[in-house]
Amino acid sequence: MKKIDFTSFSKSYNRFKKVYNRLLTITLKRLNVKANIYVSCIICDNDYIHKINKDYRKIDRPTDVISFAFLDDGKRFDLLNQKCDIILGEIYISYQKGIEQAKEYGHSLDREMSFLFVHGLLHLLGYDHQNKMEEEIMFNLQEEILSSYQEENIMTNEKELVASALKARELSYSPYSNFAVGAALLCKDGDVILGANIENSSYPLSMCAERNAIYSAYLKGKKKEDIVALAIAADSDNPCSPCGACRQVMSELLSKDCKIILANVKGDMKVVSVNDLLPFAFSSEDLNK
Ligand code: THU
Repeated sequence: MKKIDFTSFSKSYNRFKKVYNRLLTITLKRLNVKANIYVSCIICDNDYIHKINKDYRKIDRPTDVISFAFLDDGKRFDLLNQKCDIILGEIYISYQKGIEQAKEYGHSLDREMSFLFVHGLLHLLGYDHQNKMEEEIMFNLQEEILSSYQEENIMTNEKELVASALKARELSYSPYSNFAVGAALLCKDGDVILGANIENSSYPLSMCAERNAIYSAYLKGKKKEDIVALAIAADSDNPCSPCGACRQVMSELLSKDCKIILANVKGDMKVVSVNDLLPFAFSSEDLNK
């Protein structure tokens, strides 16, 4: 059933339609809403939201999100728990503000655009932040909804990343071992960087797939805090386990929160951390002692 009537100023914003529909479903489930909810969502620019802010709220500047509820609070609270159809209202979101605020807070644009939608939606559902108590309830709920969404999303991302690693594996040059390995590294900004093992007749000169991916990422200007996950895949009985040299490189060039996804062509997957792979690692801190 169509839940969100989605309008956007640019085709490139359309990818948020799926995200917002999912966030709406998670929110309604979390709040035990029985009614069928319909929402209008408009992703616009700063000029447009500025006009709305000025005309309807008498505030003469652009803002990030504005929502207009169609029903007053009393009526809405009665209806939410009944099996009925409710057109909740409209949510306007400025894409430009989304970009500015994502930079300011140091998180992804997707995270910011998701936050703005959930914030606007909770207002439509009657939540507010006029005082400390209201604010705490609304903001905790926002965090909870965004975390649930992120967790779901990570699962989808993990599978997609393994698929990319398997694709990268096709680029392997491994005539000596005949053991092709692929790697795919996911960055916060959505970039996926690939690697495959490249061998040499002088065997020790060969380079593993995951190290190729990590070094490529650094050559593209990424740092450990930009990298969220690394998938490694081979035709192994168990999910492909990285060699010791790669573990040492990972322990220095990836963050402790980076997810390492070990996989094989059969579809087995195991998610571990860098520390699981190499506890008590040698590091730069050991050098000058
Ligand atoms: N290999 C990798 O690419 N990654 C690993 O984690 C394990 C091993 C490659 C290196 C070599 O080209 C081949 O697999 C056999 O050792």
